[in-house]
Amino acid sequence: MRPGLPSGTSLLVSFARGLGVDKQQIDPVAPQLLPPVLAQLAAAPRHLGEAARLYRAAVRATTFGLIDHVVLRTQVIDAHLASALHSGIDQLVILGAGLDARGWRLEALKDVTVFELDHPATQRYKRRRMSQKRPPADIRYVSVDFERERFANALEAAGFRSGAPSAWIWEGVAMYLPLDAVHDTLGQLTSLAAPGSELAMTYRVPGLFPYGPLGRVAIPVVFAAAGEPLKATLQPDELASAFAPDWEVTFDEDSRGWRTLTGSSANASRSFLSERLAVVKRRS
Ligand SMILES: C[S@@+](CC[C@H](N)C(=O)[O-])C[C@H]1O[C@@H](n2cnc3c(N)ncnc32)[C@H](O)[C@@H]1O
Repeated sequence: MRPGLPSGTSLLVSFARGLGVDKQQIDPVAPQLLPPVLAQLAAAPRHLGEAARLYRAAVRATTFGLIDHVVLRTQVIDAHLASALHSGIDQLVILGAGLDARGWRLEALKDVTVFELDHPATQRYKRRRMSQKRPPADIRYVSVDFERERFANALEAAGFRSGAPSAWIWEGVAMYLPLDAVHDTLGQLTSLAAPGSELAMTYRVPGLFPYGPLGRVAIPVVFAAAGEPLKATLQPDELASAFAPDWEVTFDEDSRGWRTLTGSSANASRSFLSERLAVVKRRS
């Protein structure tokens, strides 16, 4: 992370959601969260008429699949969240929330308490940007550095009920942490999540970048330049072992499976096949 500055990768993924792959608005709140230049670039298609398609195609082609990837990721996690809420869960914890706008854009969260945990600098930036906007959800902020601090006590002090089932989202964060911080966070989560709780978490498997050798070299460089070098990787069986025996893995797919589940118009073959989404459920 760049000292005192909001996470660069959180700006990139919010931009991708704000732009989208076609007219469907994935994240209408993104332009309110982004710095002015990125906000204008994300909202540009609305003013470009016929040229909007060309503009989007150019951005999609020159950002190494980021736009298609993030659109698919948002849609598949939204789908899993909707089914968790359907089961009556009324508290959501978003770990490494960045500029995640679910608390503002999802009406389904209107009776849900949303706990946003993030690195202090990114959270400060987001709170400043959103101070005048009234979200449907009851949003509570907890700042934490996953590499240095434990969050369990602060989360409970903010009103989290560990006796009741909860939904958790850990989207696009674990790959920027050292492996021991990933395991430590999973341990804390297990101590807080009641039976019936669900976690949707993305993680990175080694290799598998789009755009061949160019992507293999350029993509890690882009993340490092944003101040967030890629770190932890896990194989699916290692992740399943990390969750055993308390959690059951109910879904574990890369973006091709996300597209099948959502019917998205984003192109999975352009996306990062190295990132997978695991959905796990806390056993009784
Ligand atoms: C790629 S962004 C993803 C943000 C959000 N989950 C989303 O998908 O829009 C990565 C997020 O991880 C957070 N992060 C990275 N390292 C962290 C750390 N050591 N402690 C807390 N948060 C961290 C950043 O602040 C940032 O919000």
